Amino acid sequence: MRCVVANWKMNLRSGEAQAFCEDLLLRLPEGGSAEVGIAPPFTLLSLVSGLVRPRGLQVFGQNAHAEDKGAFTGEVSMPQLRDVGCSGVLLGHSERRQFFGETDAGLIKKIKAAWQWDLLPLLCIGESLAERDSGATLDVLGRQLSILAETGPGPLWVAYEPVWAIGTGRRAEAPQVQEAHAFIRAELIRHGACTDYEVPILYGGSVTPESFPELLGIPEVAGGLVGGASLDPHKFGELIKQAG
Ligand code: 13P
Repeated sequence: MRCVVANWKMNLRSGEAQAFCEDLLLRLPEGGSAEVGIAPPFTLLSLVSGLVRPRGLQVFGQNAHAEDKGAFTGEVSMPQLRDVGCSGVLLGHSERRQFFGETDAGLIKKIKAAWQWDLLPLLCIGESLAERDSGATLDVLGRQLSILAETGPGPLWVAYEPVWAIGTGRRAEAPQVQEAHAFIRAELIRHGACTDYEVPILYGGSVTPESFPELLGIPEVAGGLVGGASLDPHKFGELIKQAG
């Protein structure tokens, strides 16, 4: 299964999102088999899900709180994501870890809450430049994945996003991606998160239509989690076509 997911981050307003979706829907390949998702900001979830879900696209939240409801000003819960048409949720994006204090312990609760509400967690992991330069990449990935020993098995997608490749135009090299994805697969199996190949592992970090075909040729790369290039319907449409 190939997967292409747009992470719009904190971009677009309603008029722009509507125009994007209308344009993208015209570009979807006939008979395409890739799973396609869009993760808009919370304010656009209803609008986007109303437009794209009838065409079989998935809608993801970019984050959610682990509690169902309560006094958590500024937060959004898993049932609230479901309520506006989400089928999944990004969890542990490096920007959440870096700027908003997301922790591995907190992610255990969030993954379990997502499952409770029948949302597919898309768990994002990846090392910083300092961690790569010091040779700690696989240790970091192993630590970030060790939470799966606590959550137990369940429906999951994983995205490997090296922090230094996000928004920098500096995509990871094929051997780096191959090593990381092979390690992630082995860890997923070790933790019992998957016994076969049913957990797709996406690559994220400066994915473009120029680089995506090479990435898709790397073993264990099931698709892409795309930031900048996903804000352009022409480029995102190309990525969907390339995924098949
Ligand atoms: P870019 O594609 O802009 O590098 O962003 C990647 C990302 O963070 C997707 O979650």
